[in-house]
Amino acid sequence: MSEFPDSRETLDGAALPEERRFDEALRPRTLDEMVGQERLRENLAIFIRAARERGESLDHLLFHGPPGLGKTSLAHVVAHEMGAALRVTSGPALERTGDLAALLSNLEAGDVLFIDEVHRLPAAVEEILYPAMEDYQLDILVGQGPGARSMRLDLPRFTLVGATTRAGLLSAPLRDRFGWVARLEYYPPEDLERILARSGMMLGVEFETGSRGEIAGRSRGTPRVANRLLRRVRDFAQIEGGGGPVTHALALFALERLEVDELGLDRLDRALLATLLERFDGGPAGLETLAAAVGEDKGTLEDLVEPYLIHQGFLARTPRGRVVTDRSRGHFGALASIREKQQKLL
Ligand SMILES: Nc1ncnc2c1ncn2[C@@H]1O[C@H](COP(=O)(O)OP(=O)(O)OP(=O)(O)O)[C@@H](O)[C@H]1O
Ligand SMILES: [Mg+2]
Repeated sequence: MSEFPDSRETLDGAALPEERRFDEALRPRTLDEMVGQERLRENLAIFIRAARERGESLDHLLFHGPPGLGKTSLAHVVAHEMGAALRVTSGPALERTGDLAALLSNLEAGDVLFIDEVHRLPAAVEEILYPAMEDYQLDILVGQGPGARSMRLDLPRFTLVGATTRAGLLSAPLRDRFGWVARLEYYPPEDLERILARSGMMLGVEFETGSRGEIAGRSRGTPRVANRLLRRVRDFAQIEGGGGPVTHALALFALERLEVDELGLDRLDRALLATLLERFDGGPAGLETLAAAVGEDKGTLEDLVEPYLIHQGFLARTPRGRVVTDRSRGHFGALASIREKQQKLL
């Protein structure tokens, strides 16, 4: 059994099923409502304006970056700003070439087609996408066996928006067909504070001085995590705080109960680093070995946990495996000595 049985309760960026409703409600609709990612937003605003002025559809766009940073939101914003309809699908949902052919042949001029997890498109489906993206043409096979023949259909001008957390897994031919590839970055705490202010207003949560900054600083640079912490803190305010505003003390109390430390690391982050430090002497250790040791799925570690730890300089990927950094040793060494001191005092 896993040594960390509650690791699913972690605060990484992946959307929980109950969360999709909130994601929908709190999702920014326009470029102005979107907080942060300034350079990306400025560029996008120019591309949108230019395309609109020319009366053309927008070139195909690829958004990549860690979960919960706003890729899906951006697809909605693009369609909204272009005054276009949005069609949504995903790589794994397009199992057969016919699935994509049906979608493409139903598009109307200017439509935005959003393919989430675009790195998971089956190879045969991806092949259909090339001429569609490049020449707005769809090659379909009519009939079966020796009598089958290939037919070419003209498609209306549409915009493909792709999103992926794993840009490295995208094939070069697909990647090259996007007119613009943009990476979303982790948000600084000031941006997360603004996002929390907006979400708080929408959820009817009142913050007292310092409380919003406290939550923002522990949100792993991720809007989805900030909104998730906000909802949990709201619960504590309602039950433990008698329905009053979120005070700084209450925010701290809630974050402690949620086991999010002052650096925003949660239980799974700490489990991974502690395992590496204590059992593997700081590494290197392979991903599979680590996944087994913390009782967590390999993909979850790779997509959700590691990127933030690497970004924060707690963990490094080397050809021989994962290793902890001096920052990890410092942080956890300090924690251990605090624990020791506390125990001596008791
Ligand atoms: N720039 C932003 N401004 C305001 N809110 C944001 C922003 N980016 C994301 N959010 C909030 O975070 C939530 C998650 O964002 P979104 O679903 O777009 O992330 P994602 O990158 O598509 O994640 P995944 O990789 O899991 O699909 C949104 O519902 C929205 O509430
Ligand atoms: Mg998404």
